Amino acid sequence: MSQNNKIDGIKACVFDAYGTLFDHHSAIGKHRKQLGDAADQISLLWRTKQLEYTWLRSLMKHHADFWQVTQDALDFAFDMHQITNLDLKNDLMNAYLSLECYPEVPDVLFLLKTRGFKLAILSNGTHEMLDSAVKKSGISDLIDITLSVEQIGTFKPDPSVYQLAVDQLNLHSHEIIFQSSNAWDASGASAFGFNVAWINRFGQSKERLPGKPNFELKTLMELPDLIH
Ligand code: LAC
Repeated sequence: MSQNNKIDGIKACVFDAYGTLFDHHSAIGKHRKQLGDAADQISLLWRTKQLEYTWLRSLMKHHADFWQVTQDALDFAFDMHQITNLDLKNDLMNAYLSLECYPEVPDVLFLLKTRGFKLAILSNGTHEMLDSAVKKSGISDLIDITLSVEQIGTFKPDPSVYQLAVDQLNLHSHEIIFQSSNAWDASGASAFGFNVAWINRFGQSKERLPGKPNFELKTLMELPDLIH
């Protein structure tokens, strides 16, 4: 993956939400004691199932919003670990509404905005989930537009989701750079026609899927130097 070639002609930076701007594993953090030794395993299973359900529901053509899917995935993880505490389940779901953003996020967004890029979120999350996370992490003034898949009723990586950003921003796909820590989302966006920075926060292997991100970065910090 090219790390040196800068991309010219970018007008908007579009960000995935969970794992890219917001630390979804921080939801478990406050409840680690109650979950015991299995806390990290539960967090990972919760996320894995959440994503699986988005893909499976899309194939089955039985859409439910991301709040429902997130709840169902948590139920599955609790079942697997034989946890029956309903209060804990509610607390974890509520924690999803007040996730922390990754440390570099506010500074990077501020810098990009100062340089005149339009900033957007494009996420599987519902508007309520996204608005709440944006507010709690103090980046409301930096984000120009928050786009939810609920506007079209399917999930990433359906190309119609990436098209939503093109339509709403009224730009060509080559004027947009999309950031995601999810390698499959980075592939989907690249296959659609976006410039893509894969923010490989978790040191994952690259996906064997169509689409090839332009950049593989460790955090968002490196992004501003790569676009004009
Ligand atoms: C999102 C998930 C994929 O925010 O992280 O859309």
